[in-house]
Amino acid sequence: MTYSIDLSEFESLMTVKGYEMLKIDSRYLVGYGGAGSSKSYSTAQKILFRILSEDDHRFLITRKTARSLKRSVFQLFRDIISQWDLSDLFSVNLSDLSIVCKANHNQIVMSGLDDVEKLKSITGITGIWIEEATEVTEDDFTQLDLRLRGHTSNYKQIILTFNPVSSQSWIKKRFFDNIDSDATVIHSTFNDNQFIDDRYKDVLNKLAGQNKNLHDVYAKGMWGDRKGLIFDNFTLIEDLPTDYEFRTYGIDFGYNHPQTLIEARIIGDSIYVRELFYKSQTLVTNLIDFMNQEGIKEDSIIYADSANPDKIVTIQNAGYRRATGAKKDVLAGIDFVKSKKLYVTEDSVNLIKELGIYSWKLDKEGKPLEVPVKLFDDALDALRYAVFTGEKIKISLAVVGKRKQSDMRGFSESPFRGSTSDRFRGF
Ligand SMILES: Nc1ncnc2c1ncn2[C@@H]1O[C@H](COP(=O)(O)OP(=O)(O)OP(=O)(O)O)[C@@H](O)[C@H]1O
Ligand SMILES: [Mg+2]
Repeated sequence: MTYSIDLSEFESLMTVKGYEMLKIDSRYLVGYGGAGSSKSYSTAQKILFRILSEDDHRFLITRKTARSLKRSVFQLFRDIISQWDLSDLFSVNLSDLSIVCKANHNQIVMSGLDDVEKLKSITGITGIWIEEATEVTEDDFTQLDLRLRGHTSNYKQIILTFNPVSSQSWIKKRFFDNIDSDATVIHSTFNDNQFIDDRYKDVLNKLAGQNKNLHDVYAKGMWGDRKGLIFDNFTLIEDLPTDYEFRTYGIDFGYNHPQTLIEARIIGDSIYVRELFYKSQTLVTNLIDFMNQEGIKEDSIIYADSANPDKIVTIQNAGYRRATGAKKDVLAGIDFVKSKKLYVTEDSVNLIKELGIYSWKLDKEGKPLEVPVKLFDDALDALRYAVFTGEKIKISLAVVGKRKQSDMRGFSESPFRGSTSDRFRGF
């Protein structure tokens, strides 16, 4: 069963470029551009539109890692389904990340490109969306391209969405330097997204005088070259290690900006981090609810943005008595993190995105200055708070000599117990 959709009403729910995408039926639809231009949102809308208005569909949604899907595209589909008030019409399966339209049995299935077994098991694909396509290899793309063949009732399409972060990308050679008559390329920036807020626009516009590369990529949506990246070296991991020396949490407060919570586990010179919470328009009470649900222990060491002492008190009053203000020395914090080996869990989608953006200001000749550009650094701030403030305390403990570092091994929870740690509260 299909639905006849009133397109005039639909139009008001979409950006102009997104609405344009609805009608494009070429084999490849390449959606590239700046940050916040509605590439992801519009693509999810288009796929839901086709799910509702066409028959016999099984859309495969994919990106580099399986663990990044749940918090990004899967959540996006759920958000749009609920905004359109269609929750009754879809059954959503959280464990295998599938969404089925109950009326016509059309399906959306998700698999990371690293989950080869799951990918192989998904047959009868009628359309594909590769999110953050610059993260995937040309070989992966070719394999996916081969999967989308045979007879289907409707047009077959592979949608690629991405920021044009590096002109070295295979995508540039494949779809930009060479013209493919089967491909339609759609370019968009925040100016094409009427739903984006003014602050976001401001931040992107201000990039112009700070870092030309960031401005090109994220404001103008032009191919860039990753010039001046601050954290140019980190490793993706599946999970945090269970045998660690320290565990701390970092919180960056925000309302229009995302409010973020990062967990850090330290072993020697290695820092292992996971993004736990990353959401705009949330209150500190929403964050506390989340921490309770996640089972974060009340005696955990939590370093939060010291610019908001009232919020820290709210967190303490909720039982997290060791929540305290973080060290906010940005350059020393960056130096510290850069001097360690950094490991990031694959599901930390926003943190990974921020790590790929966070750059030094550049001078007129394009040389990096020792000043970071303030753009998309909410998760990174929380990361710094978690590991850098903790490091200061660790040094102090070593100096005091109350407890040698080796004694701290094996503490499954906070190593800062009893009087020693209390002495350093608020450091
Ligand atoms: N059709 C829409 N209706 C309502 N809100 C929208 C719509 N399109 C985009 N938005 C809003 O704009 C924000 C940015 O959109 P989206 O995340 O799709 O941009 P993007 O181009 O994928 O950005 P990035 O380059 O960072 O991945 C969304 O979080 C959402 O709040
Ligand atoms: Mg996106």
